[in-house]
Amino acid sequence: MPLDEKLLNRDPERVARMFTEISPRYDLLNRILSAGLDGPWRKTTVAMARPQGARRILDLASGTGDLAFEFLKVKAFQGVVIGLDFSDAMVQRARRKAAKAKVSNRAQFRSGDALSIPEPDGYFDLVSVGFGVRNFADLEKGLLEAHRVLAPGGRLVVLEFFRKDENPAIRFYMDHILPRLGRWISRSPSAYAYLRRTKKGFLSPDEFVALLHSLGFSPVVLKTLTMGIAHAIVATKPPLPRPEETP
Ligand SMILES: C[S@@+](CC[C@H](N)C(=O)[O-])C[C@H]1O[C@@H](n2cnc3c(N)ncnc32)[C@H](O)[C@@H]1O
Repeated sequence: MPLDEKLLNRDPERVARMFTEISPRYDLLNRILSAGLDGPWRKTTVAMARPQGARRILDLASGTGDLAFEFLKVKAFQGVVIGLDFSDAMVQRARRKAAKAKVSNRAQFRSGDALSIPEPDGYFDLVSVGFGVRNFADLEKGLLEAHRVLAPGGRLVVLEFFRKDENPAIRFYMDHILPRLGRWISRSPSAYAYLRRTKKGFLSPDEFVALLHSLGFSPVVLKTLTMGIAHAIVATKPPLPRPEETP
C-alpha cells in the first residue's frame, strides 16, 4: 500500500489499536499539541449544543471523556451522558476519570461502535462527537446512526478538524511540528501523521454541512474556531410535524 493510503487507512481495528496505543498520553497530547485550545473549543461546542433540559446525551468516539465531562459543567443540564468508544483502553481511562471526579452516576462509558449504536431509535436528546467523525470507516453510516438514535428535534453536535486552506504559520505547525511533537510524546510512530493526513484528506466544513443536509438534518449551524483550525457544527433532526400540519 502506498504511504499516503496507508496513513489514510481507517480500518476500524487499526484505528482502535492506534488510539489504544496512545491512550496513556492522549490527554497530555491534546493539551500540548493544541496549546490548550481544545478546552475552549469543547466549551464552545457544548454551549452551541444547548444541553439544558436534555435527559440523555450520547457522546460518540468519547475517548477519555473530555467532551462528555464538559456537558456536566452546564448547571442546568441534569441528565446523563453515555460515552461510546471502540478502544477499551480509552473507555477504561474515561471511567477512571469519572470515578475520580465522582460523576460515574451521570457519565457512563461503554465499549461500542459508533457505526452500530446499541440503543433504540429516538433514544437521545443530543449526540456529540469530538474529533471522531474524521476517523469513521463509513462517515455516512455513522451520521445516519446518530440521526436514528436522536429524538425528533434532537441535535447532533460535532467538533472536528476539517480540510481547509491554512495560513502559512498554521500549515508549518501542522506539517512539521505537530507530527514530530506527537510522535515524540505519544511514542507512536504514526498516530499524529495520521491526524495530519486525515485532516487533509477529509471533507471541507462546507462539504460536511452539505452532507448533513443531504442526510436529513436541518438547520445546520457551523462555527469557525481559532482561525479555522477547528470547527463546531450543530445539526438538528427536524421535529415531527404538528398534527394540523399533516395532510
Ligand atoms: C481523536 S479521539 C477523540 C476522543 C474524544 N472524543 C475527544 O474529544 O478527545 C477519537 C476516538 O474515536 C474513537 N473511534 C473512532 N472510530 C470509532 C467508532 N467507529 N466507534 C467508536 N469509537 C470510535 C477512537 O477509539 C478514539 O478514542
